[in-house]
Amino acid sequence: MPIDVKELSYSYNPGTALEKRALQNISVSINRGEFVLIGGDTGSGKSTLIRHFNGLLRPICGHVTVGGMQAHEKHVKAKVGIVFQFPQDQLFGRTVYEDVAFGPSNFGIRGEELEERVAEALELVGIREELYNVPPFSLSGGEMRLVAIAGVLSMRPDHLVMDEPLAGLDPGNKHSLLRILKELHSQGISVIIVSHRISDLLPLADKVIWMEDGRISFEGRPQDFIDSGHSLPPAITSLMKDLRQRGIDVRDDIFTIEDAFNEICRVKREKMVHRQ
Ligand SMILES: Nc1ncnc2c1ncn2[C@@H]1O[C@H](COP(=O)(O)OP(=O)(O)OP(=O)(O)O)[C@@H](O)[C@H]1O
Ligand SMILES: [Mg+2]
Repeated sequence: MPIDVKELSYSYNPGTALEKRALQNISVSINRGEFVLIGGDTGSGKSTLIRHFNGLLRPICGHVTVGGMQAHEKHVKAKVGIVFQFPQDQLFGRTVYEDVAFGPSNFGIRGEELEERVAEALELVGIREELYNVPPFSLSGGEMRLVAIAGVLSMRPDHLVMDEPLAGLDPGNKHSLLRILKELHSQGISVIIVSHRISDLLPLADKVIWMEDGRISFEGRPQDFIDSGHSLPPAITSLMKDLRQRGIDVRDDIFTIEDAFNEICRVKREKMVHRQ
């Protein structure tokens, strides 16, 4: 079920003195199973764009469809789950369990299947059973975000969309969230992440979309994104470029620590063979 955006334009407060054009003629497709990063400066239209993916906003011009259905159809809400930047904006249940059960029960799922879905979603994000009956607002910010993610996962969506998921998380929480995203992606769900600072996430991505002033100014592979100079490269890529400039013959098209380690080992091995 791909998300297809065709010639989408959107303005806030149209036809008034406060009219603000937020998206201009956007066309993009996201396939099930892709890991997509959406970056860009503040106010470039990232949140406005993703709110069209499950009909929270409706296009003023153009179309957004999911597997051929209009994005505002109820069924799409089950297929495209959006987690907002501030989880407290989407949590409202009296308990963690109720919150996560809300989506599927709204689609008529009851009994054992509901219990199974809630337990599966909470387990995926690592929320322990002792917390099932706790009010979500008594949790830490990181835990609330995990519950908000579980609330979307209990719908068993094809696409998980997250707005600034790493903002405000400490390194430990960041690491575990990245592990969860990787796991979900490996299960075939597409993961679509909006972020100001996408360099931490580039190693996971299949595709990068960069927005400027309501338009897409770049769409392509992470490596081409780094080469395009739209954003600072990840620290590990800068290090490899620096080593190369200093005369060490390493590749500089690298953005994971593991690949950097393997590349440095390769060069070291070659040098040793040369010396013998
Ligand atoms: N509810 C609203 N009413 C009026 N204008 C809005 C509203 N929400 C957003 N805008 C304007 O639309 C434009 C795009 O906003 P949007 O929130 O999509 O940007 P963003 O890329 O998500 O920014 P950020 O990185 O700060 O979250 C901005 O100029 C913003 O001021
Ligand atoms: Mg935003």
